[in-house]
Amino acid sequence: MILVTGGAGYIGSQTCVDLIEAGNQVIVVDNLSNSSEESLKRVQGITGKSLEFHKINLLDREALLDVCLKYEIGAVIHFAGLKAVGESVEFPLPYYHNNITGTLNLCSVMEECGIRNIVFSSSATVYGDPQTVPVLEDFPLQPTNPYGWTKYFIKRILIDQQAANPNWNVAILRYFNPVGAHPSGMIGEDPRGMPNNLMPYIAQVAVQKLEKLHVFGDDYDTPDGTGIRDYIHVVDLARGHIASLDKLRSEPGVVIYNLGTGQGYSVFEMAEIFEKVSGVEIPFEVVKRRSGDIAESYADPTKANEELGWEAKFGLEEMCADLWRWQSQNPNGYN
Ligand code: NAD
Ligand code: WQD
Repeated sequence: MILVTGGAGYIGSQTCVDLIEAGNQVIVVDNLSNSSEESLKRVQGITGKSLEFHKINLLDREALLDVCLKYEIGAVIHFAGLKAVGESVEFPLPYYHNNITGTLNLCSVMEECGIRNIVFSSSATVYGDPQTVPVLEDFPLQPTNPYGWTKYFIKRILIDQQAANPNWNVAILRYFNPVGAHPSGMIGEDPRGMPNNLMPYIAQVAVQKLEKLHVFGDDYDTPDGTGIRDYIHVVDLARGHIASLDKLRSEPGVVIYNLGTGQGYSVFEMAEIFEKVSGVEIPFEVVKRRSGDIAESYADPTKANEELGWEAKFGLEEMCADLWRWQSQNPNGYN
């Protein structure tokens, strides 16, 4: 069985679909702090199979231990964490506590229960403002916000634990910019409050929940002046987790992979493709740069391509079409 922490969330719910479709039994633990149980009902609707759900906070070690003692768990995919960059700057302590203490509890419960395989959700944010692009896994790590530092420290914790107990196998996945939704339009990203990220914001402008896109600066040193990122379809990202679980079976110790497409696109390009695919105009206004933003970041995904036999298949049109299907069918998310 596979334990999925944070499985009710955006990337976790998509990964549950892929896990179930690959024949795995899935147990989700999630405290629903940034998600809703409805996503898991829909995962079961898509797959026609059931999964186990336990509403548990990773900070509650005893509750987590009970679940891990009850089932035969072979591996953990660890998505659970808080992820809003701005909020982490404003409230660093709860971010460190939730993400790091939660992971420490998880690891100590895994150790106690003899569970030795973990796939961890890291982020391209650990590279900070890279000196060159594309970004390789051995580039210096220089996070610029507490959220990014939680990913940095958790990497250290996992490496030290694996060194102390070489039976552990750890895959650290650095996601670039996940976008899109399941092609059925049944599950997708459901941000609480104002979306922080570009594509959910555009999607909410398209359904007229928001008035216009604020483009955070058009004076970057990029061809059209707006920021460039590596957008990856959430379905491709989820497949990267299945490939990583396979990799862990070969007992590699610690492995680290960038999950991106290797292509960068600007804010204007993303808005344009979304407009083309949806047929909806996205009004915009250029405003000042967002603090902490960088000009350009995209992955070199060669290592994941070669060692996982994985590569991103979907292009921008599919990402935007699937995002639009989700947003137009569920203008208020899961509510
Ligand atoms: P999400 O917020 O949709 O999912 C995270 C889930 O974790 C939520 O369901 C939330 O309720 C749960 N959770 C948080 N703290 C918990 C706790 N203490 N105990 C139990 N459950 C808890 O986010 P997502 O976009 O699906 O991201 C999943 C992971 O991927 C996160 O670790 C995130 O940092 C990482 N990541 C996300 C992105 C992105 O842009 N979405 C990019 C890089 C990395
Ligand atoms: C993309 C581009 C913005 C919103 C963040 C986190 C990162 C990771 C992914 C978790 C940038 C511009 C955005 C808007 C805009 N998350 N933009 N108007 O900043 O690359 O990464 O999400 O790990 O840690 O930092 O993604 O989608 O916020 O921004 O102009 O309303 O869109 O300036 O150039 P980012 P994003």
